[in-house]
Amino acid sequence: MNKKNLNEISSVISTELDIFSEKYKQSLRSNVGLVDLVTKYIMKQKGKKIRPLLVLLSAKLCGSIDERTYRGATLVEILHTATLIHDDVVDNADKRRGLPSINAVWKNKISVLMGDYLLSKGLMLAVDGDDFDFLRVITNAVKRMSEGELLQISKTRKLNIDYDAYYRIISDKTASLLSTCCEIGARSATQSEEEIKALREYGENFGIAFQIRDDILDYTGNFNVFGKTPGTDIKEKKITLPLLYALNEANDKIKKEILSKVKSSSRKNNLSDVINFVVDNGGIEYADKIAKEFAAEAKSRLSIFPGGETRGALEKLLDFVVDRKK
Ligand code: IPE
Ligand code: IPE
Ligand code: MG
Ligand code: MG
Repeated sequence: MNKKNLNEISSVISTELDIFSEKYKQSLRSNVGLVDLVTKYIMKQKGKKIRPLLVLLSAKLCGSIDERTYRGATLVEILHTATLIHDDVVDNADKRRGLPSINAVWKNKISVLMGDYLLSKGLMLAVDGDDFDFLRVITNAVKRMSEGELLQISKTRKLNIDYDAYYRIISDKTASLLSTCCEIGARSATQSEEEIKALREYGENFGIAFQIRDDILDYTGNFNVFGKTPGTDIKEKKITLPLLYALNEANDKIKKEILSKVKSSSRKNNLSDVINFVVDNGGIEYADKIAKEFAAEAKSRLSIFPGGETRGALEKLLDFVVDRKK
């Protein structure tokens, strides 16, 4: 088996994923015409469903999957979708999941309101199910995601990001939700704080590796597979790990030159000059190495659990994350 194939990894839990997909679809129904139109479009944009997969696998590893687990899986995918819609407004992104983004089709006003709608809809699922333990964890993740996005904007404006700020941004904007997925999956199946903590930390390290890989794909990705337009980070003046490393290794003159090209990346050749600079100076290899270190760290958190199919799937998911093309 190719351990990096997401379908193969998901196959250990395929029945449960089908049940989740049905519940997810049902949960997005609405009687408001415009809401229904946009949600139907969202259904056409096929995401990888990594977050529900993490919820389900974490629950299975700690015990068994029940109604609460499915609620958790549904609500994280709804929240994730809401944050992507907002993120594409913030990032001026034109594509998502291989299709035009919501803001590209309906503009920013409708995107902001649809994001808010989905966010509240996701939280309502937990309120209606009396899952207050989920709510505590999830509202904290939503807060961290907004903080991460805001810190990123302030660093982007000044182009003065360092390694510490970079890790704080990606931990808040991305790892917070992925660790939440593992935590609520675990909480739905066990009361063992030791197991819950191990999975939360697996998720946090998973999330950092996941975002570093995403940042690499913004340089090396192919739209037809990745589903997003590569180069968007530089166009938005976002300095992510591959560029951060290459800049830190360069002398002051080159550094100044490249930063001025980042500032005017819309000008002809500047975007490709920055990409070539990163590739030629080992930025991709370095980021790849770091992503693998976080994945290894995540894997080590699973050692308290017995081996088997479910733990194996969580381990293979890490191989997928650091090698993914989409
Ligand atoms: C995209 O996440 C946002 C990031 C944290 C980089 P995914 O790559 O999991 O998005 P979908 O759901 O598969 O589209
Ligand atoms: C990912 O942000 C995290 C959130 C959506 C909050 P990015 O802007 O880095 O991710 P993509 O590349 O648009 O998916
Ligand atoms: Mg984005
Ligand atoms: Mg963003």
